[in-house]
Amino acid sequence: MTVKNVMVIGAGQMGAGIAQVCMQAGYEVLLNDVNQDALQNGVNKIEKLLQRAVDKERITEADKSKTLGRLKTSTQIKDGGHCDLVIEAIVENMDVKTKVFRQLDEIMPEQTILASNTSSLPITEIAAATNRPEKVIGMHFMNPVPVMKLVEVIRGLQTSDETYETIETMTKELQKAPVEVADFPGFAANRVLMPMINEAIFAVYEGVATPEDIDTVMKLGMNHPMGPLTLADFIGLDTCLYIMEVLYEGFSDSKYRPCPLLRKYVKAGWLGKKTGRGFYQYH
Ligand code: NAI
Repeated sequence: MTVKNVMVIGAGQMGAGIAQVCMQAGYEVLLNDVNQDALQNGVNKIEKLLQRAVDKERITEADKSKTLGRLKTSTQIKDGGHCDLVIEAIVENMDVKTKVFRQLDEIMPEQTILASNTSSLPITEIAAATNRPEKVIGMHFMNPVPVMKLVEVIRGLQTSDETYETIETMTKELQKAPVEVADFPGFAANRVLMPMINEAIFAVYEGVATPEDIDTVMKLGMNHPMGPLTLADFIGLDTCLYIMEVLYEGFSDSKYRPCPLLRKYVKAGWLGKKTGRGFYQYH
């Protein structure tokens, strides 16, 4: 199966980026959001990033217009009835996501593939809300989407080989690198990253070293571009705690217990860069 028309649901941080990379790769995109302001913000963000690429002479003015010509917007999911693929990037909440997938299952043609950009929810459970679990798959893009090369392609329990192959091919056309991942808590990226961040927080909690020194160890000693505590502040400490809870609950294994210091910071409202304070202060 080949994909030509894509509906992206959710025009927030991730959805706008996903729409942009699809448009740049030549796909016709319908960007959907329930909120008209969010939809407009998403379009503005795409226009701004394309203009920046023109200013830096990476693309021409004509490329920009051609790319923008592939974008349509709507606040109604039913307007996407012609699409071959839906990529959902709405709020990270199982009830809200399953409601949208149930609606999509009713509206979309039976061959349409339904993908979710979820960073932590089980694809198998999202798929079970539909009558086409073999056509439901995870496409976990990284933030910021236009910059980051990786897409974790997550097979739910019932995802078919045909669905997987279609999405793998499309991901490559987006100039991204697909990695096949089975549907387990945290997939691969967060399963490896978050326990490392949590362990760095334990090291601060136990007085092993300061946040600055732990970050220095990982940058200079392991060649990481950013230390784990700086990265945690950037991701948001609430998001880090949430993902640790998903791992802890999903595996029932104490090795994933969130550090008490992480819980304390989140309770204090120290969520990292977005609130001005986390392991570092920002202002
Ligand atoms: P966001 O809050 O920036 O955007 C979500 C958008 O979805 C909002 O504009 C909202 O109005 C819209 N929305 C909510 N319910 C809707 C519905 N029923 N129909 C249509 N639109 C609806 O969120 P963000 O950060 O873009 O995250 C979206 C998804 O991507 C989540 O599942 C998240 O876990 C995942 N993700 C986020 C990453 C990140 O770094 N922010 C990284 C990778 C995945």
